[in-house]
Amino acid sequence: MEKADIGLIGLGVMGSNLALNIAEKGHRIAVFNRTAARTDAFVGNAGELAGRIVPCHTIEALAEAIRPPRPIILMVQAGGAVDEQIALLREVLKSDDIIIDAGNANFHDTVRRFAELAPTGLTFIGMGVSGGEEGARHGPSIMVGGTEESWRRVEPVLTAISAKYEGESCAAWLGAGGAGHFVKTIHNGIEYADMQMIAEIYGVLRDGHGLEAKEIAPIFAKWNEGRLNSFLIEITASALAADDAKTGKPVVDIILDRAGQKGTGKWSAVEAQTLGIPATGIEAAVAARVLSSMKKEREAAQAAYGAAATGTLPKPDQAALTDLELALFAGKIAAYAQGFAVMAGASEEFHWELPLPTVAKIWRAGCIIRSQFLGRIAEAFSAGPVSNLLMAPAFVTMMKEAHPALRRVVAQASLAGLPVPALSSALAYFDSYRQARGTSNLIQAQRDFFGAHGFERIDSPGAHHGPWGSGAAKAG
Ligand SMILES: NC(=O)c1ccc[n+]([C@@H]2O[C@H](COP(=O)([O-])OP(=O)(O)OC[C@H]3O[C@@H](n4cnc5c(N)ncnc54)[C@H](OP(=O)(O)O)[C@@H]3O)[C@@H](O)[C@H]2O)c1
Repeated sequence: MEKADIGLIGLGVMGSNLALNIAEKGHRIAVFNRTAARTDAFVGNAGELAGRIVPCHTIEALAEAIRPPRPIILMVQAGGAVDEQIALLREVLKSDDIIIDAGNANFHDTVRRFAELAPTGLTFIGMGVSGGEEGARHGPSIMVGGTEESWRRVEPVLTAISAKYEGESCAAWLGAGGAGHFVKTIHNGIEYADMQMIAEIYGVLRDGHGLEAKEIAPIFAKWNEGRLNSFLIEITASALAADDAKTGKPVVDIILDRAGQKGTGKWSAVEAQTLGIPATGIEAAVAARVLSSMKKEREAAQAAYGAAATGTLPKPDQAALTDLELALFAGKIAAYAQGFAVMAGASEEFHWELPLPTVAKIWRAGCIIRSQFLGRIAEAFSAGPVSNLLMAPAFVTMMKEAHPALRRVVAQASLAGLPVPALSSALAYFDSYRQARGTSNLIQAQRDFFGAHGFERIDSPGAHHGPWGSGAAKAG
């Protein structure tokens, strides 16, 4: 039988769609799934693409079916399953073959796997894939980590299956080792922040202005034609407009207000903290999901404290809607600035030389946070190095226009008792970032007072102590 060009393990949601995408682009692909019935069902449903798919019921058969040097994509549950499959592959693969982990791995695991596989002669690639089921099938955004040489070996197939933005492929090599999975992690963290801020604006419209889902849907649809144009705004408008088949009510009104957080969202907040880069929008979004899951506790707290007064804001006129649109835009700028700052920090720490303009470019299509806005980010980073996206001249102009609206929306929501944790954290980040004289002089005084930690003076170098002496320290 004719050998396959590539192999894939794991025919779940992502793996099966990626395999069809690869087959559709003219590549012969061998597939294996732990549960054999899934492999058979997959090929049975592959239609005319079945002719390019080689079903395998053992790892040995999979290895046999591919033409050396064999590239094999792993699309299984992140964590132990990846290690298990790699252990099995090590038994059947030879030096020069390539294992590509395409799941949402923790980049620390990816770094470890690179080290473990180095002595074997096998090539390893850690690859972030974004775009969900639809992206995997028709063109995801692909973030590759590994050696440049390994990227060159898989570039043709990855470029072929990736999303395209105005003809440009949304697959790229981003750096060594864990670079690809790190960037995917931050992508997901930004996605959390983006989604949370959209939900907060929805909350202001629903609970503050008292609008129904059907009234809110066209507002988002309109915003999708302007500066907020993005996949997430588009699907928000569609979701708000959809009816529940069972009750006839808007679907969003019958969905329980409880969301989970797992893996990449949390990791992005943790990594930001570890690197010492503020990512308050991502942190707020992760925390908001955790709080959302505490439904019973929230109900008890509302009974104890009373609910926020709903519908106290007047029906929004055009000026109020523009404020909400600009507030969301300002929050988005701050959250993306933070996400890119975290990647810049990691790039320095791990010597990846992450190409930030390329990261923004490969997110313009295929992935969940795809938007026009990412094109502006790519332009800003291409124009020359900036310490933070907020300092890129084009973003200074945009933020100057948008932050007063963010301020008004956050203030109004707070006075009405409506939670806007990600938007208010974005505002606090911006206000702290642009404040030349902050308040940590007092923090340093406190630290020196109770712990003799010393402080820097504004008028002479070196470490100094305050006039509080040992008596003051004892008082602490
Ligand atoms: N869904 C998304 O939108 C999305 C987007 C980007 C990235 N990802 C990532 O892509 C990866 C796959 O996600 P998915 O949504 O496709 O998951 P899924 O539909 O739940 O499928 C999981 C796959 O992993 C296999 N598997 C699980 N444990 C295994 C083990 N111990 N040994 C061998 N195979 C095992 C399953 O095989 P069986 O059939 O035998 O159970 C199945 O093929 C994950 O890392 C996920 O985080 C998902």
